[in-house]
Amino acid sequence: MAIAAKIASALNAHIGLEADASNYYLALSSACAEKKWTGCAKFFLAQSAEEREHLLKIFRYLVENNVVATVPEQKAPAVTIGSMRDLFAACLKSEQRVSASVTVLIDLAVSLKDYATNHFLQWYVAEQQEEEQLFQGLIDEVTLVGEGGTGIYLLDKSIGARAASS
Ligand SMILES: [Fe+2]
Ligand SMILES: [Fe+2]
Repeated sequence: MAIAAKIASALNAHIGLEADASNYYLALSSACAEKKWTGCAKFFLAQSAEEREHLLKIFRYLVENNVVATVPEQKAPAVTIGSMRDLFAACLKSEQRVSASVTVLIDLAVSLKDYATNHFLQWYVAEQQEEEQLFQGLIDEVTLVGEGGTGIYLLDKSIGARAASS
């Protein structure tokens, strides 16, 4: 079944969101490095690469279905980091926006009886669940440990180790 123009343009718009997420995490990596949160810097660098993979997955799906995939315009995101808790809370919000876009895409695919695209998008449903749980988990950890000198040092180290093992 050919992909409807409406779905094609919605998928292309979602490519833009994944690109924004990739850029956002890259900017966070830099901002963390500046603060000497080297574990977090490493973690966000890996997150940025993951988001690019999400973008490419849609890109490939479109091309395989003879749809022109568009390369999104990108601006460098301006990020300032306050507390570590605020940082992860902002990431969770950003992930929730991506999840909302996946939901809209699935609603559209189902309404047009495009079950192939619906099936393709289910991977993103699982992925977004994981990402939201990841950031919620980090918010919980930082809340438990606190942001005193030793707490933040240990947390940064453990986040960095997590990036290395994923
Ligand atoms: Fe993503
Ligand atoms: Fe994500």
